[in-house]
Amino acid sequence: MMKSVYIKTYGCQMNVHESEKMYAAFAADGVGHAEKPDDADIIVLNTCCVREGAETRVIGNLGLVKKLKERRHDLIVAVCGCMTQQPDVAEKLHKRCPFVNIITGTYKLGKLPEMTRRIENGEKYICDLEKTETTERGINKAERTDKTGAFVNIMYGCDNYCTYCIVPYVKGKERSRNSDDIETEVRMLIGCGYKEITLLGQNVNSYRDGNTDFVRLLDRLSSVDGDYWIKFLTSHPKDLSDDVIRLISERPTLAKYIHLPLQSGSDRILSLMNRKYDLSSYMRKIDFARSLMPDIGLSSDIIVGFPTETEEDYLLTENAVERVQYNNLFTFIYSRRSGTPAASMPGQVDENTKKERISRLIDVQAKTAAAKAAACVGRTYRVLCDGTENGKSKGKTSEDRVIIFDGGTPGEFTNVKVLSAKNSKLYGKAVN
Ligand code: 5AD
Ligand code: SF4
Repeated sequence: MMKSVYIKTYGCQMNVHESEKMYAAFAADGVGHAEKPDDADIIVLNTCCVREGAETRVIGNLGLVKKLKERRHDLIVAVCGCMTQQPDVAEKLHKRCPFVNIITGTYKLGKLPEMTRRIENGEKYICDLEKTETTERGINKAERTDKTGAFVNIMYGCDNYCTYCIVPYVKGKERSRNSDDIETEVRMLIGCGYKEITLLGQNVNSYRDGNTDFVRLLDRLSSVDGDYWIKFLTSHPKDLSDDVIRLISERPTLAKYIHLPLQSGSDRILSLMNRKYDLSSYMRKIDFARSLMPDIGLSSDIIVGFPTETEEDYLLTENAVERVQYNNLFTFIYSRRSGTPAASMPGQVDENTKKERISRLIDVQAKTAAAKAAACVGRTYRVLCDGTENGKSKGKTSEDRVIIFDGGTPGEFTNVKVLSAKNSKLYGKAVN
């Protein structure tokens, strides 16, 4: 009987796509996709370590996997990804969970089928944390579960070393994929009917392959014939260029949406974070984008409680968030990541203060989001229908606003008139 694998993904969209690529690698090896852990011969946990919460969830879930393994001794368990790329964490995990057969990091995910076979052939335990910072040629084979939107890697790694962030240590140096390969992959996906292409990289603005920089890459990809839009994650405010913003405003195939993490509204904290921009240069980019596209969708990541953050620093963040008027905000409590410079900075902020600040910030954003949603009532948007919610269609606008509506066909664009708004949510109906 055909073997099958279940992959549990933690963390960001980049990890979601890594898991899609792992499913494809297993499929090429004759291993199918199990719908739930109980049905699987192989269970893979694809981990994240950006914040402590993700690590805690991995440890919790390993408790459940252990119970499964007690019932089925031939079950193969692998833990991979950012968390286990840290050698000390990998070693601790092996001691604490000796039933895990394979531990690997972020570099060798494509080799998991091969490692699994070695375990089937009698090896008891494999730990492979070798760093191979090469970027393979050709298109990335991936088993995409979503039939409307597709992720495409354009670069890997990060050289920015923000002082709070563990990513550069676990994902390695910045490296860009070949631009012809990316274009071939995007053309193939559009040809297959995908309507939303999301380009992925820790800092997409520093993409470079020979003469192709990010704006040139966007220019090439958004010139492909077809009905689709392209989004990208994540932009760094120090590197997002006016040329990119201008191109977004000119091209119908580029979604009118930018995720531009501010992290903090205090210049003193931004400098301690090693972000290399200040609030006024950030605001200049926002103002420029809005001058060309008044309705552009903007979102951001904010960290509260970075070491030495005072009430005044926090209020600067709150003010900046109110000024920008984001459509969507991802708020995080600073999480001490061992090995990063900020972890050993003096002035760590106590947990209660962090919690109190994040809840105030969430309240501020909720008011903005509700006001922005209310302002959409009566307008008609072009919406990409990408799912259902409570029997109705669910879709997104080019600005990344979510709308629940009557009518529409999954995987297709539809014009939707917004009839009402509740908190940040929009409700409407398809119109012609
Ligand atoms: N603590 C809290 N949030 C963090 N992020 C990255 N590292 C940390 C950390 N140590 C957040 C940043 C980043 C997002 C992906 O995760 O806001 O933009
Ligand atoms: Fe982390 Fe900063 Fe790189 Fe983003 S840009 S992955 S926050 S180091």
